[in-house]
Amino acid sequence: MDFELKNIPSQKGRVAIVTGANNGIGFETTLALANYGFKVIMACRSLEKAEKAKSAILEKLPNADLDILQLDLSDLNSVKTFAQQFKDNYSKLDVLINNAGVLIYSGKKNKEGIELQFATNHLGPFLLTNLLFELIPDDSNSRIVALSSLAHKGAKIHFDDLSCEKSDDPDAAYGQSKLANLMFADELNRRLKKSGKEIVALAVHPGGSDSGLFDEMSKLKYYTFKILSPLILNSNAAAAKPSLFAALSPNVKGGEYFGPQGFQEFKGKVGVAKRSEYSKREDVAVDLWKLSEEMTGQPFLR
Ligand SMILES: NC(=O)c1ccc[n+]([C@@H]2O[C@H](COP(=O)([O-])OP(=O)(O)OC[C@H]3O[C@@H](n4cnc5c(N)ncnc54)[C@H](OP(=O)(O)O)[C@@H]3O)[C@@H](O)[C@H]2O)c1
Repeated sequence: MDFELKNIPSQKGRVAIVTGANNGIGFETTLALANYGFKVIMACRSLEKAEKAKSAILEKLPNADLDILQLDLSDLNSVKTFAQQFKDNYSKLDVLINNAGVLIYSGKKNKEGIELQFATNHLGPFLLTNLLFELIPDDSNSRIVALSSLAHKGAKIHFDDLSCEKSDDPDAAYGQSKLANLMFADELNRRLKKSGKEIVALAVHPGGSDSGLFDEMSKLKYYTFKILSPLILNSNAAAAKPSLFAALSPNVKGGEYFGPQGFQEFKGKVGVAKRSEYSKREDVAVDLWKLSEEMTGQPFLR
């Protein structure tokens, strides 16, 4: 099922947003989309890092059509400002890659007291997608892509303990946020179908790659990871392939979930990814949707 990146026709005239475009998988996704002719809006929390990343892409692709807009997904006001700025400057959005994410072990919360991974990885992208939705053409080439993770597999949504403070699993909150990404894509797809829309919402996971994501690991875990990663993990460019497949392949349907097919799904050709039974629960996805509407203060595709 892997697709040939070289067979994709020019995408000139199309507009994409990649969140977290300055580093890791988002950087590689931006580079590839720009190479196909997309205008890519690099949605980054640090303008300085974004400028550096933009320069690095322009060195490789002098004709890349890149704009930068500041976005802090952990802050709903920043998401609102970003969406307004986008609407003021662009008339449509063909591809939204909700790529940015954090993995933390510190139990940090955002300004509103919401656990930082739930806020950044799920609530921010939920509101962003909602606010930009009206600009997405009703077309099967329009894509909304969620970046989930293998980490969704052991997770559940802790409705009564969103910060996962009662859990003794240190990965519970990250896993929950990545499960939320997958269930958001599924529920979005169901709601799009119900309202007769052609827009395709789907999820991917990148396998594993040595990006900036793991910087908060304990020293022991981090160095073990650094030693093992070249042997078992993807490069960031390869880890971007599931996102590119979801954004560009004509052979995808809403609600699908793609990732690498090799050993433990860490790397390899892109294909249909395995998912936990819990992630298929529509009742949980509906409850998560309602909670997300409440927490962001905005109804979405009711
Ligand atoms: N790499 C893997 O093995 C792996 C595995 C499974 C899933 N994923 C998922 O892949 C996605 C990309 O991660 P990555 O591996 O490329 O990690 P990364 O190198 O750390 O990149 C993450 C990006 O997200 C941005 N970001 C973090 N917090 C943000 C916020 N509040 N607002 C806006 N942007 C924010 C970061 O910006 P700064 O540079 O300013 O921090 C960075 O650009 C994430 O959703 C992650 O969960 C990765």
